[in-house]
Amino acid sequence: MEKKAIYEGKAKIMYTTDDPDVLLVYYKDDATAGNGAKKGTIENKGIMNNKMSAFFFDLLAKEGIKHHYISMPSDREMLVKKLEIVPLEVIIRNVAAGSLAKRLGLKEGTPMSCPVIEFCYKSDELGDPMVNRYHIRAMKLATDEEMETIESMSLKINDILTKFLKEKNVDLIDFKLEFGRDKNGDIILGDEISPDNCRFWDSTTHEKLDKDRFRRDLGNVEDAYKEMLHRLTGESFK
Ligand code: ADP
Ligand code: TMP
Repeated sequence: MEKKAIYEGKAKIMYTTDDPDVLLVYYKDDATAGNGAKKGTIENKGIMNNKMSAFFFDLLAKEGIKHHYISMPSDREMLVKKLEIVPLEVIIRNVAAGSLAKRLGLKEGTPMSCPVIEFCYKSDELGDPMVNRYHIRAMKLATDEEMETIESMSLKINDILTKFLKEKNVDLIDFKLEFGRDKNGDIILGDEISPDNCRFWDSTTHEKLDKDRFRRDLGNVEDAYKEMLHRLTGESFK
């Protein structure tokens, strides 16, 4: 397969394939926090995030969510439908944590009485500033119709993941999604779903099983990723 790197991001490299509508995603072990201010590696993160993302995409497909995932040709690689990414980070929050807890003066762990959706404009130079539906319309980042689709898909994904994770004794605190337009112009789910972009807390102990262990120097970072992979798929990562 002819492959050419078209983009190297903080966590993944995107390659072209023989099919112009398909990209190959390579998941790296690199970890960053604070928009690149803190850098490190999490051993085997790329393999574990690839597997967890594939698992979540399959789970969502069963519930009718359209996504970019096609197949997993190797442990670190995923074939996906090429999308025109809507330059927004869509954040869904069930419990106050991280920047929301700080911004609104809420204690981390305070449940929100309904899911909260936030949008950040994807721009490393600007530090991904938060935007609302008016900014999105004025800057023509997405149409109103597309935003209705993105919001309703995000809430449905939240319902599916929250229920599924509860059975694994995990609370879905918050998470970040990215959407894009496929070759037909339809909005579908892209990027990844993993402990890099979700907050997972053990329901009983409230232990953090996600990238906050790296962001906040809590230790046992790899173990948290292994534990999530095991709870989701039953696989024990050596
Ligand atoms: P970042 O760009 O934030 O450093 P990554 O290292 O995860 O993030 O890079 C992956 C890039 O690929 C992101 O910019 C993401 O928006 C983009 N992307 C994700 N899925 C697709 C897709 N199906 N088609 C095109 N681009 C995608
Ligand atoms: P935050 O509390 O730092 O705003 O993060 C909310 C959620 O979004 C959390 O699960 C981590 C995820 N996230 C990303 O995946 N990428 C980002 O750039 C940011 C800021 C958050």
